[in-house]
Amino acid sequence: MVSDNLVEGTEVPPAVQAVVLVGGKGTRLRPLTLSAPKPMLPTAGVPFLTHLLSRIRQAGVEDVILGTSFQAHVFSEYYGDGSKLGLRLRYVTEEEPLGTGGGIRNVLDELTADTILVFNGDVLGGTDVRDVLATHRSSGADVTMHLVRVGDPRAFGCVPTDENGRVTDFLEKAQDPPTDQINAGTYVFRRSVIEEIPPGRPVSVEREVFPKLLAEGRHIQGHVDHAYWRDMGTPEDFVRGSADLVRGIAPSPALGDRHGESLVHEGAGVGPGAVLIGGTVVGRGAEIGPRARLDGAVVFDGAVIEAGAVVERSIVGFGARVGPRALIRDTVIGDGADIGARCELLRGARVWPGIQIPDHGIRFSTDV
Ligand code: GTP
Repeated sequence: MVSDNLVEGTEVPPAVQAVVLVGGKGTRLRPLTLSAPKPMLPTAGVPFLTHLLSRIRQAGVEDVILGTSFQAHVFSEYYGDGSKLGLRLRYVTEEEPLGTGGGIRNVLDELTADTILVFNGDVLGGTDVRDVLATHRSSGADVTMHLVRVGDPRAFGCVPTDENGRVTDFLEKAQDPPTDQINAGTYVFRRSVIEEIPPGRPVSVEREVFPKLLAEGRHIQGHVDHAYWRDMGTPEDFVRGSADLVRGIAPSPALGDRHGESLVHEGAGVGPGAVLIGGTVVGRGAEIGPRARLDGAVVFDGAVIEAGAVVERSIVGFGARVGPRALIRDTVIGDGADIGARCELLRGARVWPGIQIPDHGIRFSTDV
């Protein structure tokens, strides 16, 4: 299946290059992003970025530039020249973060193609990149923007289009949005448009570049589809996206057909009577105690969940420990943190790396 797509993919002319923006600080995913950049957090067994890079490769695009800033070295140490993924991967690092538009402008010297795909590095998507390129070619636009429909567009860039699919407005985080179409964080730029972005200073593509292009009457085309899409920027979305990958709801060429209710990596131990459901992932060398119940849990490598603990829709960082019969729900536990027996952590709690909470140390009820 995957190899068929790759063969098909080679039909895309090499005149397309891809830029992936991975320089953000990922503040909404703290404390996990204190030690690792957001696109490198493990999702279904590989760094999140591997899913996106595999999708780019699947579309036949091999020449990829990573726009890095925060923790730049982590990317090059892991991916090297990209050959393991069938890519030619290069890195351009901003000393000071230049924002999404500044990050695109900063890689200009590496761009030789006229057609440049640009991806936010934190989007989990199922869209066939070739379809977005096809819309760009047939419309002759300056920029083509992938749009998705969401239930509540207020947290995103809302993007109305006319009857020909041409973008008419760009409303970042509008309170009263006129459409449910939002900016999905994947674009196709003509190289000449990237040349126009002012160099050497922070620029937001969403707040500055797109509104300016529209004000000048330039052609931004929307590409709307109904494929899977999720911005992995918050713990809630990260947990959902990870579970969707495990269950095969979110497609990824990096995973092939390994789907089920849970994914347990090599070297992990699962005790008798433990229940792993809801797209739970157990990392390498992690230990799940007897009768523990994990529902939509993301357990990073080397973490320990003790007997009878319950972990729901939560992320447990590298080497962290959840004590016996603790209840962890909608929570992020930082690397190496230690949660004592029968603690309860609920509703968006975040435990910083290395913090120790003693047995019975936090409860949301008076039951003992
Ligand atoms: P938050 O701090 O949680 O908002 O996350 P973030 O810093 O990743 O910002 P956001 O989610 O808005 O960024 C969208 C994409 O652009 C992500 O893939 C970021 O890595 C990337 N990005 C954001 N700012 C920069 C930047 O200054 N330079 C580069 N190269 N990439 C950036």
